Amino acid sequence: MRENVLLIGGGGREHAIARALEDSEADLYACAGNKNPGIARIAVGFETLETTDPDAVVDYAEEVDATLAVIGPEAPLDAGVADALEDAGIYAFGPKEADARIETDKAFQRRFMAENDIPGCPDFETFDDMDAACEFIDEYDGDLAIKPAGLTGGKGVKVIGDQVTPEEGKEYIRESDYDRIVLEERLIGEEVTIQAFVANGAFETAPAVQDHKRAYEGDEGPNTGGMGSYSDATNDLPFMSDDDYKEAVSIIEATVDALEDYRGILYGQFMLTETGPRVIEFNARFGDPEAMNTLPVLETDFLDVLTAARDGEAPPELEFADQATVCKYAVPEGYPTDPEAGAKVQVDEESAGDALLYYASVDERDDGIYTTTSRSFAVVGVADSIDEAEEIAEDALAVAGDEGLHMRHDIGKADLVQRRIDHMNELRGE
Ligand code: AMP
Ligand code: GLY
Repeated sequence: MRENVLLIGGGGREHAIARALEDSEADLYACAGNKNPGIARIAVGFETLETTDPDAVVDYAEEVDATLAVIGPEAPLDAGVADALEDAGIYAFGPKEADARIETDKAFQRRFMAENDIPGCPDFETFDDMDAACEFIDEYDGDLAIKPAGLTGGKGVKVIGDQVTPEEGKEYIRESDYDRIVLEERLIGEEVTIQAFVANGAFETAPAVQDHKRAYEGDEGPNTGGMGSYSDATNDLPFMSDDDYKEAVSIIEATVDALEDYRGILYGQFMLTETGPRVIEFNARFGDPEAMNTLPVLETDFLDVLTAARDGEAPPELEFADQATVCKYAVPEGYPTDPEAGAKVQVDEESAGDALLYYASVDERDDGIYTTTSRSFAVVGVADSIDEAEEIAEDALAVAGDEGLHMRHDIGKADLVQRRIDHMNELRGE
């Protein structure tokens, strides 16, 4: 049977999901707050709507006779869009609101890990009294990460000893109007993302990816939604061992076991520390950019994952091409603090050469595609090695030029990868 799949969300991640379904036995419909030109070209129908409005999404799903839905971003999950679709009889690959709390409520997430004895949880305390949180900082022996409990688009965390001093951390807590925060042990190591495809109590994992959150080269500057990411031709990254990967997967397994009815992607972000992987956070969806590393090398039909999930089966065993990927985002100049919109995008899917091009938050006008104030587009190189994939991505960025745009050219370059290896060796005393 040909499926009618509704894709919810309009960023780079969702463009990658759309591409993963392009050759499947499915007609793709999409809805998002912005009209993503890449998705719109693949989809047979595209509706601009508020994706955090469950009724609006359900109305469109019914209008197009959707037989399945895939939810890309966290905001609609938090708004209960998966629940509303299920109530309307449409299976959504994406957790229900209560399960999405693994991402949307960091205090819940930490308590959930502690209560279910899930390994890899840092020491933490949750606070709804900000004075008590500041006192805790004064009394704690060591550095802490300050995390607002709710969603902040990856930009709310401040790490004492890394981005801020204890005084600046307290000032941040007092000046922000967060009503709940988590303070947790600062983890030191290298960050690794492992995404699991979860359905009916079973899961399959993708190769590890490393994202780059900081805005500027050399990991300087404010945190962003992610500036780019790379993966290797194996499950591991150059600074991690197969045992590290397996240990992280065992943490995912314990989490999937504890979450009874979870379906969708469970994204584990780990800090690979000197004593092994610890959990920085879980997300209830693909990473953005990480989806753009993972889906281009997924050889299994993504539609088979969706239909298995809906039909009460375990996900099929996933096959990934033995290829490395490097993804680099182009963002508007000034992003994320003072982004300037309105630059014309000079590269498209054809002129990107050997690279894949994924649109994110752009505005399509009669005379071309323009940047907005969020991440604009990403280019992805896929090749036998990280070096070759990096060159392919850079060639596409050269076509784009840097008028009105900012990108991190260092992502995936041999120097930066070597620094990660050296860092891990140093921590492990090797
Ligand atoms: P999150 O929004 O939880 O992904 O956090 C954003 C960034 O803050 C992460 O990518 C890490 O670099 C950093 N971070 C979060 N939690 C910790 C922690 N416990 N220790 C050190 N860094 C952290
Ligand atoms: N790459 C980080 C995120 O998707 O949250």
